[in-house]
Amino acid sequence: METTEVQIHRGLRGIYIDNTQASFIDGNVGKLLYRGYDIHELAEKSTFEETMYLLLHGQLPTRAQLSAFDAELRAARPIPAEVIQIIRLVQRAHPMDVLRTAVSALAAFDPDVTNESPEAILRKGIRLTAQAATVVAAHERIRHGLDPVPPDPSLNHAGNFLYLLRGKRPDPEEAKTMDVDFIIHAEHSSNASAFAARVTASTLSDLHSAIVTGIGTLKGPLHGGAAEKVMEMAEAIGQPERAEEYVRETLKSHGRIMGFGHAVYKAEDPRARHLRDRSKVLGEKRGEPQWFQILTVLEQKAMVPYRARGIYVNVDFFAGSVYHLLGIPSDLFISIFAMGRIPGWTLQVMEQQAHNMLLRPLLNYTGPMDLPYVPMDQRR
Ligand code: ACO
Repeated sequence: METTEVQIHRGLRGIYIDNTQASFIDGNVGKLLYRGYDIHELAEKSTFEETMYLLLHGQLPTRAQLSAFDAELRAARPIPAEVIQIIRLVQRAHPMDVLRTAVSALAAFDPDVTNESPEAILRKGIRLTAQAATVVAAHERIRHGLDPVPPDPSLNHAGNFLYLLRGKRPDPEEAKTMDVDFIIHAEHSSNASAFAARVTASTLSDLHSAIVTGIGTLKGPLHGGAAEKVMEMAEAIGQPERAEEYVRETLKSHGRIMGFGHAVYKAEDPRARHLRDRSKVLGEKRGEPQWFQILTVLEQKAMVPYRARGIYVNVDFFAGSVYHLLGIPSDLFISIFAMGRIPGWTLQVMEQQAHNMLLRPLLNYTGPMDLPYVPMDQRR
């Protein structure tokens, strides 16, 4: 049989599929830019609404532009009663399955569902970002036997989400922590879920389908699940004095320390620092300082030798403790990641469709060739 030598790029690692203006990552120095702006400046000086505007429009808004954008986002929060009904029907499913189902159902009620113009994709991305917060919070309340609370238009996106979850207004510090978390999760180049969303967009399918694809892809433990695992690890360690022993034992049995390492960053993930102090402050305020203490021993002592191998903390390392301290149950952690990432997925769908080419790689077939078809009664 004649064979042709093909070059396989397993996992597509190191392959550029297109140009982008969404985000820039230099994993060797831990640098991340959204639309050219440093993530540190955005996390410290911006708001989620402003960062979302920047991502979707490509430039920082004027005061009037931000105000109109924010008003559109706030107005889009309510979800149809039929979608609440669907959430009730699937309430026992994992929150990511519920979010995926609800986003799919929301397509049926979206006035732009058949309109894939750039303006319509933008409107749908804004609506879905607002509605996803309502879905996640409504599900959390419904599965605990509580009625969803109506969105509060006087609160920003992050504050409103915490309000919808708890039924009472968060203090400004908690709302700011949630806001920063949404900023640092908003966009991250061609990670698995954004790539999957692009594949869907490249068939000229619609935005809801692409976001459903993104949610389904993010759900896997190799992508969105580490924050939950970090909190489980901190609970298993229990007290700071046990952290070094835990690392020794885990690595001896070839396990992984959750919240460390990254496929792209070989220096500290620049997003991690923005939740470090917030984890400390929130822990002290809540009377649970042990989580930050345990994480600090892991970061500053036990895992220091691994820095030489490019293994540093990633964005999920402090996120788990922060969510826990905000009173958020651990199976909601990935949904919060997904909510924050909708602007990035929307932007990548817009980029893909602006100069589309069907994403259609090849698979090198290695199975048998030209087998004779055997009739059923002659098979053994
Ligand atoms: N703990 C211990 N060792 C690690 C860790 C870790 N967290 N991460 C990587 N290593 C080691 C591996 O054991 C491997 O060692 P070896 O060469 O002796 O076999 C080496 O570093 C390279 O590991 P790979 O998995 O090949 O490296 P990659 O860069 O593809 O891994 C990944 C990235 C999957 C994130 C990995 O670091 C990991 O499993 N981390 C823990 C889970 C986690 O925190 N995930 C969240 C990532 S951030 C995000 O997705 C938003």
